[in-house]
Amino acid sequence: MALSFRCSPAAVLPSGCDAVALGLFNDRWSEGLEGRLPAELLPGVRSLLERRRFKAKPGELQILTLAGPGPSQVLVAGLGAPESFDGRALRAAVAQLARASRDLGISELALALPIEGFDPTSALAALVQGFRLGTYQDQRFRSEPEPLQLPGSIWLLGLDPSLDALIDREEQICAGVELARELVAAPPNAVNALTLEVTARGLAQELGLDLTVLDAEACRERGMGAYLAVAQGAAVPPRFLHLTIRPEGPVRRRVVLVGKGLTFDSGGYNLKVGASQIEMMKYDMGGCGAVLGAARTLGALRPEGIEIHILSATTENMISGEAIHPGAIVTASNGKTIEINNTDAEGRLTLADALVYASGLKPDAIIDLATLTGACVIALGDEIAGLWSPDDALAGQIEAAATAAAEQVWRLPLQGSYREGLKSSFADLKNTGPRPGGSITAALFLKEFVGEGIPWAHLDIAGPVWSEKGRGLDPAGATGYGVRTLVEWCCRLAQEPSGGLVQ
Ligand code: BES
Ligand code: MN
Ligand code: ZN
Repeated sequence: MALSFRCSPAAVLPSGCDAVALGLFNDRWSEGLEGRLPAELLPGVRSLLERRRFKAKPGELQILTLAGPGPSQVLVAGLGAPESFDGRALRAAVAQLARASRDLGISELALALPIEGFDPTSALAALVQGFRLGTYQDQRFRSEPEPLQLPGSIWLLGLDPSLDALIDREEQICAGVELARELVAAPPNAVNALTLEVTARGLAQELGLDLTVLDAEACRERGMGAYLAVAQGAAVPPRFLHLTIRPEGPVRRRVVLVGKGLTFDSGGYNLKVGASQIEMMKYDMGGCGAVLGAARTLGALRPEGIEIHILSATTENMISGEAIHPGAIVTASNGKTIEINNTDAEGRLTLADALVYASGLKPDAIIDLATLTGACVIALGDEIAGLWSPDDALAGQIEAAATAAAEQVWRLPLQGSYREGLKSSFADLKNTGPRPGGSITAALFLKEFVGEGIPWAHLDIAGPVWSEKGRGLDPAGATGYGVRTLVEWCCRLAQEPSGGLVQ
């Protein structure tokens, strides 16, 4: 690993640093310099920033080159107003400074950000994540990759060296996010159901997880008619993946994380046309990427007392003489019949059987993540995931975990009256309702396949799975959205006192 992080309690620069990166708040930025730099550097840095009319606005970056002893470069990021400086803003500032340090070829860097308002562990998380995830580069598909020039060592100033012990945890989180990004960004001729099985096998072997893989035949035996209806048009055979992470000691809670795993979504016979950006539908396995990424992290961290099941019904939605007809009626594994009035609403069909399977595990909670609807992107844009849950407690836990992990979610209603829209003249329900409220009816459809009384939440990640231009700690492309929230949620569950004991 190129990067190595170390905590350093004082604001004093460790000797040998060739650069220091600072963050400064708004119009009174000059005060913020106090104590962050060796005293002899202060006047020079101050006057340089003044001459360049530095305003410390969020996103503003200055690179100062100094002569004489000590660090030769000072990188300064504007942070705006201190009131709005949260974990997301801190990660964004670190990511920006990290990219600048990479571009300057700095080898040893001190990060001196104003983290006094954060508790030390969340500051550490933000610094490590901001740096690693902010400098992530994917060059797998280039014939001549550019050599990476990340600093070798990074000092995290203002954090007690005892926190060094937590750095590895953050590295594990970043590795999970990176795995999700790699899977999501890979093109549909590189990642399909069979390669996802290989990825799952690799995780199982490396981390000592249990893996069950169901092929089409095994899915048929289980009556997974909804999932198989989607898979039947594809030349690549489907794979239903089930990884299990068991805690070292006794099990206090069992949870299931389900990810939509469409490695390509052509729409099927309701083919994606016009402005639908069919070529981007490689990222339709973003839910699967997120749960496999979470498996990579959680398999290493093993949160105490929590048994974690990771599911994904993987396939691709294609057209062929074998593909399902619009208008077909199929039977899901809970016995419900579905009129497929739109083959492009395929994700919910695959999730239907995955949710029935998840419910069969008798868990304390199920969370599914899916790039489910374009309507959710219209509602919330590409930075925020939609959250649906009939369970206020679970929804609250997910909101809190997401905030701590600096990912954004917004809860939307499971409007019961909209269930009308899924009524079919022929079957128990149809897979799409009217266009208005399209992501709500999608969530209502999923709810039909969750076992009675099992707390369940659905995250529609169609927006944040991808960032066209890059933002915060996400470079342009796949974001790995969801991994950090899932990991945080599981780890918080491990901290809670017993209760809701698994039988
Ligand atoms: N994978 C898409 C949803 C999607 C669209 C994700 C755009 C990211 C960006 C999903 O399978 C789909 O096609 N949904 C349809 C549902 C419709 C047919 C009711 C949609 O959103 O148009
Ligand atoms: Mn679709
Ligand atoms: Zn889809």
